[in-house]
Amino acid sequence: MQKLNLCVIIILVVLTSCSQSGKRYKIGVSQCSEDIWREKQNAELRMGAYFQDNVELRFAAAYDSDERQVQQIDSLVATGIDLLIVAPNQMATISPAIDRAYDKGIPVIVFERKTSSQKYTAFISADNYEMGRVMGEYIVSRLGGKGSVLEIKGLEGSSPAIERHNGFMDAIKDASGIEVVASLQGDWTEPTAYETTLQWLSDNKDVHVDLVFGANDRTAMGARKAIAEAQPSSLHPSPSTLYCGIDGLPGENGGIQLVRDSLLDASYIYPTHGDQIIDLAIRILDGRPYEKETMLMSALVTRDNAKVLLMESEEIMRQASQLDLLHEKADSYLHKLDTQRIINWLAIGIIVLLVVVFVLFYLYHLRKIAL
Ligand code: FRU
Repeated sequence: MQKLNLCVIIILVVLTSCSQSGKRYKIGVSQCSEDIWREKQNAELRMGAYFQDNVELRFAAAYDSDERQVQQIDSLVATGIDLLIVAPNQMATISPAIDRAYDKGIPVIVFERKTSSQKYTAFISADNYEMGRVMGEYIVSRLGGKGSVLEIKGLEGSSPAIERHNGFMDAIKDASGIEVVASLQGDWTEPTAYETTLQWLSDNKDVHVDLVFGANDRTAMGARKAIAEAQPSSLHPSPSTLYCGIDGLPGENGGIQLVRDSLLDASYIYPTHGDQIIDLAIRILDGRPYEKETMLMSALVTRDNAKVLLMESEEIMRQASQLDLLHEKADSYLHKLDTQRIINWLAIGIIVLLVVVFVLFYLYHLRKIAL
C-alpha cells in the first residue's frame, strides 16, 4: 500500500511540474485615467507582453482620482508585483505611493507624467515642453502673427499640463500681435473644457476668439462644442475660429481624423508606445543595461499631412489586429497542446499504476504459493 501511495505522489509531482513554465514576471500598470489614449497604450502594452512568454500584466485605472490611484498602487504592490509601470495623475499627490513601492525594492517605470520625487528606475515620455513650444510657433504662423488665442490647460499639477503651457507661452512671448485672452483651467476631459469655455463665453460676450489651443484634442473639441452652442445665430462655430490640440490619435474620432476633417486645425502626436515600455521593463527585470530617461519622438499633424498619417496609422492598426488574431490562434493551439500533454501524462501514470498493481499482485501471489 505504501508503494502505491509513493507512485501516486510521483505522478502528481510530474504532472504539476509539466504545467509550470519558468519564472513569470508580474508587472503592475497604474494608469491615471481611462480614455482612448490610454486604451491604445494598454493594447500596445498587451501586445508587447505577447512577445515575452513570461510576463503577466495587472492593470489598474484611477479615473483621474489621486486617492484611487494611491490605493491602486498600494494594492498592486501588495499583490507581489515584480515591477511597477505608472502614469501619475498629479505629481505631488501620487509620489508618496510611488516612493513606497520603490523603497520596497520594486523597480518603477514612470511614463508620460512625472513624479515629484527621484525615486524611480526609469522615465519614458515625449517632450511635453517641446510640444507646447512647437504648437505655439505653429499658432503664431497660422494666425500670421496677429490674433486672439484662448488656452484651455490640462489638469492642474500634472506635469504635461505645466510643461505644455510653459512651452506654448515661451513660443508666443515675442509675438506681440498674439493676445492670450484667457488661460482656462481644464482637466484633460471634454466635458470640463466644454463647461469652462461656456462659462467664460457668458462672462466675455464681446471677446472674439481667433484660435483655441487645447492642452489635448478632447479639450479643444470641448471648447469647440461650447463656442458652437454659445453662438445663437448659428449652429456652427464661427468659421474664423480655429482649434488646435495635442494627442493626434489614429482611428475613429482620433485627432488625426479630426484634422483631416477640419474639425481641428492641428494636433501633435503624443506617442503611446506601450510595446517599448514593456521592452524597457523586461530589460530592467533581466538585469540588462537600459536608458534611465527615454524621450519619444513626436510630430505635428496639420491638414498637409493628416491624410497620409491616417492612412499609415490605419495600416499599422490593421496589422496590429492581425497580430492579435494570430496571438489568439497561437494561444488556443498552445492550450490544446497543454491539455494533450496532461492527457498523455495521465495515460502514462495510469499505465505505470497498472504495472505496479500487477507486479504487487504477482509478488503477493508468489508469496502465497511459497507459504
Ligand atoms: C490621456 C491624456 C491625454 C493627454 C495626456 C496628458 O489620459 O489625458 O489626452 O495628452 O493624458 O498626460
